[in-house]
Amino acid sequence: MIRFERVTKRYDDGTTAVDDLSFEVAEGELVTLVGPSGCGKTTTMMMVNRLVEPTSGRVLVDGQDVAGVDPVALRRKIGYVIQQVGLFPHRTVLDNTATVPALLGWKKTAARARAAELLELVGLDPAVHGPRYPAQLSGGQRQRVGVARALAADPPVLLMDEPFGAVDPVVRERLQNEFLALQATVRKTVLLVTHDIEEAVRMGDRMAVYGQGRIEQFDTPATVLGSPATPYVADFVGSDRGLKRLAVTPVTETDLDSWTEGTERYAGAPGGGQGDPRVPLGTSLKDALATLLQHDGGRLTVTGDDGRPLGVLTPAGVHRALRRATAPTDPGARP
Ligand SMILES: Nc1ncnc2c1ncn2[C@@H]1O[C@H](COP(=O)(O)OP(=O)(O)O)[C@@H](O)[C@H]1O
Ligand SMILES: [Mg+2]
Repeated sequence: MIRFERVTKRYDDGTTAVDDLSFEVAEGELVTLVGPSGCGKTTTMMMVNRLVEPTSGRVLVDGQDVAGVDPVALRRKIGYVIQQVGLFPHRTVLDNTATVPALLGWKKTAARARAAELLELVGLDPAVHGPRYPAQLSGGQRQRVGVARALAADPPVLLMDEPFGAVDPVVRERLQNEFLALQATVRKTVLLVTHDIEEAVRMGDRMAVYGQGRIEQFDTPATVLGSPATPYVADFVGSDRGLKRLAVTPVTETDLDSWTEGTERYAGAPGGGQGDPRVPLGTSLKDALATLLQHDGGRLTVTGDDGRPLGVLTPAGVHRALRRATAPTDPGARP
């Protein structure tokens, strides 16, 4: 859906921001670009919607070289979310959200109805927040409006530049989770820039780890954490990369103990043993561990798609899973 072919960007002052970059983002995929400040992430992103033109190489969106597409038409197909949000201060939240549909010539009522729908989608109440001005919202709410506005015209591609950077860590994690839930339904092709390795790991289907103007590794978070391609990547992802991997390692059936005694109890106990903490199969090891630590029982019931217990996760199972999670991955293996 988005394809970089040997793209170099040299600014007028001679700075090479991006050097011979090639990568591809599949349709419906969320790719995070992560690296230290000044490594060329924003430059990369801005070449997709032609806010920056490559010095050499090509950028294709949906098979089309963007150099040949009218920038205004291009930008209407590409949602753009930035840290500073960039809401119009003298327009209401509803009208801010309706900006692109209005530009596209939608009737006012249709644009506003769409805006209200989008505000609801990002967890704001159109009746309460819609009539307000941006200054009357919290930072987290403004970020939500930024996402709603970017999605309003239903663009196939979304560019997000440090979209959750301006809020405190708790709000940030909530916004990240909300966006992931949203992405699971809207399935946009997303490029998300961040300098935060945790965010890159949590959000990305795949992640591009940048060195200076170049991608050092482009792979799934589990593989980047499990098998860093270079010492630079290993250093960037941190010595606690094994722990970080817990967030992207799901609990699998092989981690479970069948618990015969427990099975009886499920059958016999009122409500099928509902007092025990339960997590669905596929929960991250990190969340499973957190749940385990919140309860005294020393085990979790893991349930299948139909909600029925599949087995229990005990400290021994956690240990097996941890060893699996922290073992180096086969670089050829794909999930
Ligand atoms: N308009 C510009 N003119 C000259 N240099 C620029 C310009 N924009 C960015 N740069 C430089 O290009 C490099 C990459 O910048 P940028 O893409 O913004 O990095 P990042 O988003 O990773 O922090 C930096 O050295 C930055 O100073
Ligand atoms: Mg930047």
